[in-house]
Amino acid sequence: MLTVIIHTKQGQFTETLQKDEPVLKAAWRAGLDEKGLGMCGGNCCCATCHMQVLSGGDCVTPIKGDENALLDTQPDVDDASRLACQMRVVKAGELQLKWIEGEDE
Ligand code: FES
Repeated sequence: MLTVIIHTKQGQFTETLQKDEPVLKAAWRAGLDEKGLGMCGGNCCCATCHMQVLSGGDCVTPIKGDENALLDTQPDVDDASRLACQMRVVKAGELQLKWIEGEDE
């Protein structure tokens, strides 16, 4: 089991995932879809699920070409940037993420 802790402007959300589940599922369970996260349904084309990995990045699948290409088009990207929909659980542990939210406030 992977514990996923997501830090957002609205506070911190903690969810759990099983092996092979996408991290996007944890974000949706936390209700972040209502804040606009995951508009493309996890198809790697909206980037609303942009997260900064704070720790535990070894618990999920590594970054791939499509994900890298989409992140390259986004502002506020750094070496810790990932898309929640493209990360899948590979082992148990704790994953800490910061959601990079849009400028809608
Ligand atoms: S949900 Fe759209 S890119 Fe991840």
